[in-house]
Amino acid sequence: MRITGTGHASMRIDTAAGSILCDPWVNPAYFASWFPFPDNSLLDWESLGQVDYLYVSHLHRDHFDAAHLTRFVSKKATVLLPEYPTSELEDELRELGFTSFIETKTNEVVELDGGLKVMIQALTSPTDGPIGDSSLWVEYDGVRLLNQNDARPSDLSTFAELGHVHAHMLQFSGAIWYPMVYELPQAAKTAFGKQKRDRQFDRTWRYIDDLKASHVFPIAGPPCFLDDELWQFNDVFGDEGNIFPDQSVFMREYAKVGGTNGVVLLPGSVAEVTADSCTTTHPTDVDEFFANKKAHLEEMRERKRPIIEAEKASWRHPEIDVLKEMKRVIEPLLDESLYLAKGVGGPVRFDLVGYDGESVESIVVDFPGKQVRPYGDEKVRYRFRTERALVEHLLFIDEVDWVNSLFLSCRFSAARIGQYNEFVYAFFKCLSEERLQYAEGWYDEHLKNADKEDIRLGDWVVQRRCPHLKADLTRFGIVEGNQLTCQLHGWRFDLSSGRCLTSVGHEIRAHRAE
Ligand code: FES
Repeated sequence: MRITGTGHASMRIDTAAGSILCDPWVNPAYFASWFPFPDNSLLDWESLGQVDYLYVSHLHRDHFDAAHLTRFVSKKATVLLPEYPTSELEDELRELGFTSFIETKTNEVVELDGGLKVMIQALTSPTDGPIGDSSLWVEYDGVRLLNQNDARPSDLSTFAELGHVHAHMLQFSGAIWYPMVYELPQAAKTAFGKQKRDRQFDRTWRYIDDLKASHVFPIAGPPCFLDDELWQFNDVFGDEGNIFPDQSVFMREYAKVGGTNGVVLLPGSVAEVTADSCTTTHPTDVDEFFANKKAHLEEMRERKRPIIEAEKASWRHPEIDVLKEMKRVIEPLLDESLYLAKGVGGPVRFDLVGYDGESVESIVVDFPGKQVRPYGDEKVRYRFRTERALVEHLLFIDEVDWVNSLFLSCRFSAARIGQYNEFVYAFFKCLSEERLQYAEGWYDEHLKNADKEDIRLGDWVVQRRCPHLKADLTRFGIVEGNQLTCQLHGWRFDLSSGRCLTSVGHEIRAHRAE
């Protein structure tokens, strides 16, 4: 099996029974904030795109690049489709010209022509990607690969049961706006960032240990930030609170926990994987490349500047009345929302900075009052401050997912009262009837059927499944004193009161063992 690195979470898998291109992403995503790192735009995409199968793991814009798919990927390719609750991914790919689809069933192996086997595991909670994320397992001629991508299954046993995996690709770096955008003192931001960075690595080690593959490939990040306004997010300033460590940092940290089987793929690197070996060739010296990372980024920044400027010029739509449009889009959804609106539990304020950089229009999405209205000098649960032009653009293009656009762009600042609230982000990624109904239904089913099984962890008896997204706490739960940390997303719980210390709601059932 040959694996060609094509940047970020993307790779091309070649076997004698066919080739699969995964998540090709080249054009900047999220308001021109994220670019693939290292740069993959100079690869020979004309020939990389001539494949038998295409796998797009989910609709996040660093995995689904419509312009690139349109221009470079053969429309004769058969799409391997994850089993998602909505048809959005299939609809979008059909619109780009793909006509051949294999609709997989989650966790079911499909045998394709020539003995190539694939299995896709789809995760479908409203907090997984934009209503879904997935991983791809491939087997050919006794060699097995798991492209876990940036999906976070509660465990990897479904894949492990199919036989020893030889190549395991997984995310290790950050892909979120926390804590950088929060209006906090720098020391607090650094401390939270460091915690997050450590947690990301802990989770990665846990998955690696779960699967025990022959070779481990760090993929799906970090992106790089080439706009001057976001340049500080690149991990080139020796900041221990930076959440975007790169593949060379992964190798260093992995070595510290005894890892010896890590393989870095640069764009254009080729790994030949057999049942008992992995030979890799690179387009350039890997160590030297990462040693010169800053210069690489600076060169890329100059080259990509015109692309960023052109995108920026397209965001303003002064004809749009933002308050009126937000009312039109959001109020009907507030009316329908039970779980999400209750989960948010308070008003959320948007401060929109005008084109002059100074004037501000304050709009409140009032979840309890089910209204969108001008800010009325009240206490709010969250406050977001961003450019008015960005929101105009979201309304102009009828964007139904403000997470997969505005929030991931990191082009905003935020403040909140109290803990993190997952319902705020779940709501703003569901600005369509179809998505909102799905999310409401999901919470209805999962909150009502809280897990009944208990387990013993140290001196405590706790419910087996994490109150967040049901990770198995026999594997992910760590108890220190009265506190339990679930390593899947790092959420913490006070066992004596049952209170979740990371987010509102989500109490855990726990008592001291006799
Ligand atoms: S499942 Fe997310 S922290 Fe436990």
